[in-house]
Amino acid sequence: MQIVMIGSGYVGLVSGTCFAEFGHNVVCIDSNAAVIENLQAGIIPIFEPGLDTLVTRNISAGRLRFSTDTASAVAVANAVFIAVGTPSRRGDGHADLTHVYAAAREIAAAAPDDCVIVDKSTVPVGTAREVEAICREVAPHKQLSVASNPEFLREGSAIEDFMRPDRVICGVDDPKAESVLRAIYRPLSLRETPLVFTDRETAEVIKYAANAFLAIKISFINEISDLCEAVGANVQDVAKGIGLDKRIGSKFLHPGPGYGGSCFPKDTLALLQTARSNGVPLKIVTAATEVNNTRKGEMVERVIRLCGGSVAGKKIAVLGVTFKPNTDDMREAPSLMMIPAWQAAGAQISAFDPQGRGHADQYFSQVNWANDPYEAIVGADAAVLLTEWNELRALDLAKVKAQLKSPLFIDLRNVYPPEDMRSAGLQYHSIGRPYRDAGARSLPA
Ligand code: UDX
Repeated sequence: MQIVMIGSGYVGLVSGTCFAEFGHNVVCIDSNAAVIENLQAGIIPIFEPGLDTLVTRNISAGRLRFSTDTASAVAVANAVFIAVGTPSRRGDGHADLTHVYAAAREIAAAAPDDCVIVDKSTVPVGTAREVEAICREVAPHKQLSVASNPEFLREGSAIEDFMRPDRVICGVDDPKAESVLRAIYRPLSLRETPLVFTDRETAEVIKYAANAFLAIKISFINEISDLCEAVGANVQDVAKGIGLDKRIGSKFLHPGPGYGGSCFPKDTLALLQTARSNGVPLKIVTAATEVNNTRKGEMVERVIRLCGGSVAGKKIAVLGVTFKPNTDDMREAPSLMMIPAWQAAGAQISAFDPQGRGHADQYFSQVNWANDPYEAIVGADAAVLLTEWNELRALDLAKVKAQLKSPLFIDLRNVYPPEDMRSAGLQYHSIGRPYRDAGARSLPA
């Protein structure tokens, strides 16, 4: 198969590279010439574990190329994937489809008669139909098919997610699109990955519904963790206890400072806009977003409270600033709101992050960046663990205690067993877990 990927950002680059790894011939396009030049030299613009090796291997094998020339690449393609950005439109939260429609025009003009055009970007319901209308307008004589094939990649484990997905969703409107997508994903049939074929609108809804459901799970467990704190229960055990019920499932029940990233906040907002314009309120999704929006402010307040009611003149060491581990992505990271809030309350901030620092200077000011977690906490009045990087999961607790000015360790990701922290002489606070004598089972008075 000859595949063209329009857009060499996160989704396009990972998907294009993985298609090449499947054995297809892939050209990844981007309008940014500097990005393409770097990629041709094997320089990857994002941090994604395993991606650099895969890119280099497939360039060497002659299956993966990078180009700015859309027309030439598209002219010989069996399938062209649209993987351009769909940011939230300023003001109304609708997904901005300018780049998707521009790509559709360019593809339709250059594509061979029987080409299949596939939306991979996360796009509102009805976009495939709209892309098809553009194709008919630009190239009325061609038999172009338009399909929807949403991605479910998690940053930090995107290669694994692409190579071993739980399912692949394909929204199609004609047999040709179905047979081309089946051929493209055939390598996954060895793993018996379910290939689910639906109509295009259904595929578009599946993407948003999946992200919204996961966002709901996170906001739900965050609220339950508040309840656990109030009644002396342990949210970790609650998550385990409910998650063992297969109807609920154990994943995405980790409480924390609220979800961030490039998908959940944007996609829930876009879904709500679509729903509203169709007269459907989606109250549960609305509640999940509201819980998440207030969560970060509540965590800011919690830290201030634990610091004795004021952080003025105090030093807070922030451990981890990216929205999750194994990524350098800062989009919608809780730290973006929390660090300035503590600074506004008079705190000095020192911080450590294995990847976030490269970008962080553009987001934060007056932060002292440390080269390792211990340097960050030297002389601090509190350490706040914000992102559960592996580098922060097995800290030398005696050293932590020795470096901190006051032994306050606030863990917003529940990384450490409370007993270990207490044995190390730390005043430990986590999310939704009681801090009491091991073995005690009774509720506090
Ligand atoms: C997500 C979806 O998982 C993926 O399928 C979709 O295509 C894109 O959006 P991603 O944003 O990369 O992927 O990361 P994910 O691992 O889903 O985490 C999102 C946010 O939720 C992070 O801020 C994370 O810290 C938070 N989270 C996740 C929790 O707070 N608790 C959990 O139990 C899981």
